[in-house]
Amino acid sequence: MENELRQLLAEAQAKLSAVDTMADLEVARIEILGRKGKLAELLKGLAALSIEEKKVIGAVANEVKTGIEKAFMEAESRLSVAAASAKNESEWLDVTLPGIAPEVGHAHLTTQAIEDITNIFAHLGFVRSRHPEVDWDYYAFEAMNMPSDHPARDDWETFFVRGENGEVKTGAKGKMLLTPHTSNGQVREMEKGVFPIRMISIGKCFRRQADVRHLPMFHQFEGLVIDKKASVTELKGVCDYFAKSYFGPDRVTRLRPYHFRFTEPSFELDISCSVCGGTGKVDEVKCKLCKEGWLELGGAGMVHPNVIKAGGLDPDEYSGFAFGWGVERTMMMRAGLNIDDIRILYKNDLRFIRQF
Ligand code: PHE
Repeated sequence: MENELRQLLAEAQAKLSAVDTMADLEVARIEILGRKGKLAELLKGLAALSIEEKKVIGAVANEVKTGIEKAFMEAESRLSVAAASAKNESEWLDVTLPGIAPEVGHAHLTTQAIEDITNIFAHLGFVRSRHPEVDWDYYAFEAMNMPSDHPARDDWETFFVRGENGEVKTGAKGKMLLTPHTSNGQVREMEKGVFPIRMISIGKCFRRQADVRHLPMFHQFEGLVIDKKASVTELKGVCDYFAKSYFGPDRVTRLRPYHFRFTEPSFELDISCSVCGGTGKVDEVKCKLCKEGWLELGGAGMVHPNVIKAGGLDPDEYSGFAFGWGVERTMMMRAGLNIDDIRILYKNDLRFIRQF
C-alpha cells in the first residue's frame, strides 16, 4: 500500500506539471482528491490494517496528501501567472507611438462671413438678433407695407408652407411661409418694445430661384436702426464703415435711388469695383466685373412710416433706417474671390470648402 501511495504522488506530480488549463486542473482535482477520487479509494484499504501498520501507512498517506496538495498549488500558480502574462501580451500598448491626429475642420465660408459681418456691426453698436426663418405673411409682407395682392410681392418669389391636407397653412397672421428676406425681423424687433433699436439680424432666406447667381436658400443681414432722429447721413456713414471694414479702406459707396414699399426714400447701395478701382475701365477696355465702376450690394432706406406704425410707434416721434444685403453676394464681392457659380458654396465639395 505504501508503494501504491507513493506511486499516486508521482503520478499526480507528473500530471499536474503538464496540465495547461485551469479547467483541466479542476478535472484532475476531482479525479485525485475528490470524495471518490484515487486517494480516497486507496485510503479505504487502511481499515484492513493492523494498528502498527496503520501508524506507518497513515504517516505515509499524510505525506502523500500534502505532496499532492502542494503539486496542485504549484500548478495553479503556474497557470495564473501564464494567464496574466498572456493578458499583458494581448493588451500591450506602446504609449510612445505617435497618435492619430483627428481631422480638424473649420467654419464654412458663409459662417466665417457671418462672423466677420457681426463683428463689424458690433463696433457700431448693432446687436445681433435672430428672427424666424419660417414666418407668417404678416411679418414678411403685410407689416412691411405690402398688403395682400400687392404686385410688389412678386419680387420676392416666395415659398409657402403646406400642411398635410395640401393647403397652405394659415394662422391669425396670415399664410405660413419661408422668409424671402430678413426684413420680417423689423416689425418683430419693434414688437419687443425696447428702444432705441440697433439690430443686425442674420438668417436664412428662401426664394424660388436657382442659377449661377441665385440660390433657393441664401443668407441676408438686416440692419435696423429705430431712434428719435435717424438720418440718411447716418445710414450713409454705416454703409461706408461697413464697406471699408469688410472690403478694404480704398472702397467707396454710393446710395442710388430705388424703390421699396417699406422704405421711403429707398436706395440701392453700390460699392466701388475692386477690379477697375471704380473707373469702369481696365486698360481702356470696359471692366468685366462691374457696371461703370460700381457693384450692387443691396437695398437700404429710411423706414417707411407705415412700418413704424406697424411696430407700434408714432412715426412723428420715431424714425429709422434699414438695409438688407445678401451674405453670399457680399462675400463674393470681396476682392480675389473669383467664384463664377454661387451654387458651389453649398455642394459640400471638400476640394472647394478646404480652400478657405
Ligand atoms: N428686404 C430687401 C430685399 O430683400 C432689402 C431691404 C432691406 C431694402 C431693408 C430696404 C431696407 O431685397
